[in-house]
Amino acid sequence: MTRVFSGIQPSGDLHLGNLLGALVNWERMQHEHESVFCVVDLHALTLPKDPATLRRTTLQLSQLLIAVGIDPERCVLFVQSQVPEHAQLAWLMECTVSFGELSRMTAFKDKSSRNEFISGALFTYPALQAADILLYDTDFVPVGDDQRQHVEITRDIAERFNSRYGTTFVVPAHVIPPAGARVMDLQNPDRKMSKSEVSPAGTVNVLEDFASIEKKFKRAVTDSDGEVRYDVDAKAGVSNLLSILAAATGGDPAALAGGYTQYGPLKSDTAAAVIELLRPIQARFAELEADPAETSRLLRLGADKAREVASVTLRRAQENIGLLAY
Ligand code: TYM
Repeated sequence: MTRVFSGIQPSGDLHLGNLLGALVNWERMQHEHESVFCVVDLHALTLPKDPATLRRTTLQLSQLLIAVGIDPERCVLFVQSQVPEHAQLAWLMECTVSFGELSRMTAFKDKSSRNEFISGALFTYPALQAADILLYDTDFVPVGDDQRQHVEITRDIAERFNSRYGTTFVVPAHVIPPAGARVMDLQNPDRKMSKSEVSPAGTVNVLEDFASIEKKFKRAVTDSDGEVRYDVDAKAGVSNLLSILAAATGGDPAALAGGYTQYGPLKSDTAAAVIELLRPIQARFAELEADPAETSRLLRLGADKAREVASVTLRRAQENIGLLAY
């Protein structure tokens, strides 16, 4: 059976981009593949975090994943720091990736230009991500479009390691969803939707109240030519609404455009579709939030299952690279 791995950072609130670009795909794939999903708290540390906030958001994100339908009985769901093999393999990955390759990462350029403190780990971030993926002999990595480059560098690292030290890792491929791969900011449709602290009016959060969601869609930036058409370059705002509507309802954005002659109904239908998607997720999350001990128990079980696989791969890599057996 093929194996799928993906991860998500517990930093900021879970937004519609994460949901439509990644999690909807995770939910579907867990029925078709052996699936491993990870809350990557070590990655979140690459930008300084308040410890209490990090603890809270890590637990909350885990509960949200379960609320979205990621089933800890069906797949392996765990927190990255609870499986020490990730940090251990990351060092071998850092020794395999080059400075030049890391310098070309657009996510690093973007984050380092927006933050005052730039940690060494922000630069070597893709090495830890490669470790995440390669530890599980992963075939497919479902991600949004913004993570494509990180999966490509993982392939390069795996191929280099395999050619230097003998076949050690499975070389993975990314899987980008047909709709929702790039959910854009509602106020700046040329920029991807990201954390609410960056653009509160342009970001829709999975736990946001419905009145606020309606308001954000009503105020979404479009353009002045008045034609509903799917054309990402010329009509970024309208195309973003069509993409969101398509991803939320399982339709096709270009085909959906034919059903509208005005922006108003497109905005209100998109808001309604998003709210219907979020309603059961919010209800399930409220139940899970009431019992944090149960989530912690499920995560410990997940980490135990993950370690069974990760420890074997780590040992193989250590042996092949020439570290003494212990
Ligand atoms: P993160 O936490 O930023 O995002 C989690 C997932 O959400 C997708 N995503 C989007 N998709 C569409 N439109 C958007 N506006 C949007 N914003 C975010 C991301 O593509 C991602 O799939 N480095 C990763 C986490 C990571 C990882 C991994 C992923 C660590 N190790 C191993 C895959 C495999 C990240 O920061 O994702």
